[in-house]
Amino acid sequence: MDVPELDGFGTAEDRWARLGPYYAMFPIKFARRAVQTFSQPGDTILDPFCGRGTAPYVAMISGRHAIGCDVNPVAWVYAATKTGPHSDSSTVIRRMGEIESAVRPADRKPTNEFQAYAFAPRPLGFINAARRELHWRNDSRDRTVAAFLLHYLHAKTGQGLSNQMRASRALSPDYAIRWWRTRGLDTPPDIAPVEFLSRRAIWRYAKGLPRGAGCADILLGDSALALPKTRKANLILTSPPYSGVTNYRADSWLRLWALGEGSELPDWSGEQKFCDVQKYTAMLHRTLRSTRARSTPDSVWYIRTDARSRTKDAVRHVMADLLPNHQCYSKAAPYPGKTQTALYGDHTSKPGEVDLLYLPCAQPWRKPAGFTK
Ligand SMILES: C[S@@+](CC[C@H](N)C(=O)[O-])C[C@H]1O[C@@H](n2cnc3c(N)ncnc32)[C@H](O)[C@@H]1O
Repeated sequence: MDVPELDGFGTAEDRWARLGPYYAMFPIKFARRAVQTFSQPGDTILDPFCGRGTAPYVAMISGRHAIGCDVNPVAWVYAATKTGPHSDSSTVIRRMGEIESAVRPADRKPTNEFQAYAFAPRPLGFINAARRELHWRNDSRDRTVAAFLLHYLHAKTGQGLSNQMRASRALSPDYAIRWWRTRGLDTPPDIAPVEFLSRRAIWRYAKGLPRGAGCADILLGDSALALPKTRKANLILTSPPYSGVTNYRADSWLRLWALGEGSELPDWSGEQKFCDVQKYTAMLHRTLRSTRARSTPDSVWYIRTDARSRTKDAVRHVMADLLPNHQCYSKAAPYPGKTQTALYGDHTSKPGEVDLLYLPCAQPWRKPAGFTK
C-alpha cells in the first residue's frame, strides 16, 4: 500500500492529517518520508512521544500497525481522534447541540480578566459546558467533539473561538492581556459556537474517514509505563522532548483547561521543561528502555531531536546504552523556514535539529543517503 502524499486538502487522509495545532510538532512530510523509507505494509510503527499523532497517523493510513503514546491529554485527544474519528458526523454535530443546551448562565461569565478578553459570552459558555459534560476519555463521539473544540479554541480572529491569538501555543495571560490592550482588541468576537464548529466538522468529514480509521493504538500516559504489551514494533519513529526548550503543559495550558484537565491559569513549573540534564537523561532512559522492550531486536529507530548538545548528547548517550548492537547515523535537519519559537518572539539563531538513525548491525541496510556515521 502506498504512503499517501498528504499534499493539500483533497482527500480524507489530507484533511484529518492536519487536525490539532500543537507546539513542537514535526512536519507531516518528515513522518511520511521515514515511514516510506524504513517500513513495509504490515510492519508495526511506534511513537512513544507521539504529540498530535502524526507518526501513528501516517503509519495507519499506509497500511502499517500504528502505536502512539503521549502524556499530554491535549496531544492524546488529537492523536486518538485523527486516527479514529467518530464514524458519523451528524452524531458529533448533534452532541455539540447537546453541549450548547447544557450551558448555564454562570458558564457565560468570565472568572478572570484573561477570560473576559479572550472569549465572548457565547463561546465561553460552550467551553464551560464542554468541560463539564464531555466524556472524552472513553467515548469516541465526545472525544471527537473535544478535538474540534481544542483545534479551534484559539487562533487568529475569525479562525477560532477566541480573540486574536496564535493557534499552536497559548501565551501567558498577562502578556496576552497587554497585547490585546495595546492594539485596542478589547472586545472578543461574538461567535455562535455550534454553528462555527459544525461547519468545520462538516468540512473535515466531507471526504470521509482516513484509511484504516480506528485501527491505531493510542495510549494516554507516561510511555515508561503505558506502552501496550500486544505487539512489537519494527520501526520506532519519534521526537522526544528537548531539554530546556518547551513546557508541554504550560504551552497548552488553555486547551488543558478547556478539557477540564488544568486550572484556569497556567502552571509554569520547570519540571515539564526538562531543564535539569540529569533528570532529563533519566526520563529518556526510562521511556526509551520501555520502548525497546516493545520493539524487535532488528528494529530501526529514527529519532528527530534538538541539535544543541545538552539534548543531542543525552539522547545519544542513552541510545548507545540501550542499543549497543545498532549503528548510529546522523544528519543535520536545519529549520527550513521560520521556527515556531521565532513566531513567539525568539529570533536568536538556532542550530536546528538533527536526525539520528539507528540501524541493526546484523541487518544488511545500505547507508541511507545524507546520513553519516
Ligand atoms: C517533541 S514533542 C513530539 C511532537 C510530535 N512529534 C508531534 O508531531 O506532535 C514531545 C512530546 O513528548 C510528550 N512527553 C513528554 N514526556 C513524556 C512521557 N514520559 N511519556 C509520553 N509522552 C511524553 C510531550 O507531551 C510532547 O507531546
